[in-house]
Amino acid sequence: MKASIGIDGPAGAGKSTVAKRIAKILNIPYLDTGAMYRGVAVAAKRHGVSFTDEAAVAALVGAIDLRVRYTESGEQHILVDGEDVTGELRTEEIGQGASLVSRVPAVRDRMTELQREVAHAQRVVMDGRDICTNVLPDTPYKFFVTASAEERANRRVRQLRELGQPADYDTILHDIIRRDKQDSERAYKPLYCGADTKRIDTTEMTIEEAVEAILSEV
Ligand code: DC
Repeated sequence: MKASIGIDGPAGAGKSTVAKRIAKILNIPYLDTGAMYRGVAVAAKRHGVSFTDEAAVAALVGAIDLRVRYTESGEQHILVDGEDVTGELRTEEIGQGASLVSRVPAVRDRMTELQREVAHAQRVVMDGRDICTNVLPDTPYKFFVTASAEERANRRVRQLRELGQPADYDTILHDIIRRDKQDSERAYKPLYCGADTKRIDTTEMTIEEAVEAILSEV
């Protein structure tokens, strides 16, 4: 079995789009680890646990059963205590909640364990914040996909407008900067680009070029 591929980077850098294409080309599963942290945030919200109450969040993650499942077409779903919560993951509130609960060591350790189980069974492409530095430190295929905060905000605005949803550039840029800070400055296993990781700045690159940059290495 060839080694799995790890892709880290800040919110909105295009990691998941790149990772999905690579998974399709190599015909291997794609694991979106951010969705798992979002699943924990959904569970916290449902149980009335504050995202910033570390002790309560730690107790919660020990009590819930979080699972990743794939549909026949290869789509990833998140189940919490048997219930599919996939439809609730993609809101700004849950994204911000995921960033907050991901600071709790008990949450990170549990998610790391689950992610390693997936990678142990098969070759996968995994994206997140700590894949190269923590989850799969031994894989030779490590990438850090990034872009300037302004470019990421512009892409998000375009994406939302295409969906016919309201999008305010300044609010979006502010949220991106806050999330970058939270994810890279947390005490336990923060986001960073390790010395052995290839940095790919997509600010002036197309998705295809980023995919090519990774495929040429693996
Ligand atoms: O990639 P995303 O926006 O779905 O991730 C949501 C949050 O989850 C992110 O802001 C930080 C956290 N996260 C993490 O700490 N480690 C990962 N491997 C993936 C996500």
